[in-house]
Amino acid sequence: MQLLIINGPNLNLLGKREKSIYGESSFETYFNELKTTFPNVDFEYYQSNVEGELINKLHEVGFSYDAIVINAGAYTHTSIGIADAIAGIETPVIEVHISNVYAREEYRHESLMAKNCIGVIAGMGLNSYKLAVEHFLSVH
Ligand code: DQA
Repeated sequence: MQLLIINGPNLNLLGKREKSIYGESSFETYFNELKTTFPNVDFEYYQSNVEGELINKLHEVGFSYDAIVINAGAYTHTSIGIADAIAGIETPVIEVHISNVYAREEYRHESLMAKNCIGVIAGMGLNSYKLAVEHFLSVH
């Protein structure tokens, strides 16, 4: 199974950024753990702080990969472009969030892309990504 994890803006700062919300681990460290946990998954990781680059990546893999897990960060709540890109591709997408966005500021309660995803996992810390991978494996 070819699976891409996409992280959006500020998620390159995981492990340094607002640790009480997002934890102590960098994504690179966590990504290595994921690869060890799921040796049969062909993982790719992409991070960008730029909205258009996230859209380009979705277009690039969205007709050939088996699965996409996306944490679009703040663009979750603002980007019609990313929501449209997810609607336009064929690869199924799961939206994930590290924090429980529904327990935070009201502007984080709306996701413009959720309706175009097969599901949403939020509030499980970095484990949100692992749960998404497990779902894709269970239906693959
Ligand atoms: C986030 C939640 C977003 O509201 C926020 O802008 C982020 C991270 C999360 O993983 O909890 O950057 O997507």
